Amino acid sequence: MKTSAAKAEWLLPAGLIGLSFFPVLAGAFRLFQLGGGAGITPENARFFATPLPFVLHLISVTIYCVLGAFQFAPGFRRRRPEWHRLAGRVVVPCGLVAALTGLWMTQYYPRPLYDGTLLYAMRLGVGVAMVLCLGLGMSAIGRRDIPAHRPWMMRGYALGLGAGTQVLTHLPWFLFPSIRGELTRAVLMGAGWAINLAWVEWLLLRERSQVQRRARTAARQTTTSQTGGTPCSAKT
Ligand code: HEM
Repeated sequence: MKTSAAKAEWLLPAGLIGLSFFPVLAGAFRLFQLGGGAGITPENARFFATPLPFVLHLISVTIYCVLGAFQFAPGFRRRRPEWHRLAGRVVVPCGLVAALTGLWMTQYYPRPLYDGTLLYAMRLGVGVAMVLCLGLGMSAIGRRDIPAHRPWMMRGYALGLGAGTQVLTHLPWFLFPSIRGELTRAVLMGAGWAINLAWVEWLLLRERSQVQRRARTAARQTTTSQTGGTPCSAKT
């Protein structure tokens, strides 16, 4: 029983690492290209021309996605709070570097084929939102306000992991080349961020309604015991 609960606690981090797998692999491939394993082509020339933001981006997103996943194992967090704090001190700066380098590349790299103005605007919005979520999460923990810290960190991580969900939303892109275009690309990228955010908001909403239901049940039980076993509503 205990073993299955312990296993279940690792399901979420394992799923998050699984979702990060392809962007992390793509990042490793790009780093290998930059390290001298590939020639310069029109497709990768921008990364060779100004490699620093790209390299910082790839290293920070890898640490953010992989180490960040462990922050979402509740039992582990309770048993090893010092690990959560230490990992947080690495994960949050990595998230900020990921978002800021992403913003820099959005602004200054020449746009690849199919990356249009709508996607440009979305990237600006997501990058700024990620910085804000992480900033608000850190400010909440500075006040020891854990109920506010958690949702902001969940949102910040969900936005970052949009890169993983985008691999899945892009399946039609790879399967049906005829749909390729700037609008389709923006919709598929946007869907990755939107799905992750919607999932987090749904989890938070479900948690809130569970807490409210438990509070109502507890209040009803208190009233029942104070009135000698007869619920108030049953009294005449
Ligand atoms: C932590 C989450 C993130 C992950 C895992 C991630 C992953 C990646 C990867 C693997 C690449 C290389 C893509 C390629 O091989 O062409 C990349 C590039 C890029 N990322 Fe991110 N990224 C993340 C966050 C962001 C954010 C928040 C933004 C926007 C503000 C952003 C903007 C960009 C841009 C503009 C590029 C270069 C695209 C190009 O010119 O082809 N990324 N990212």
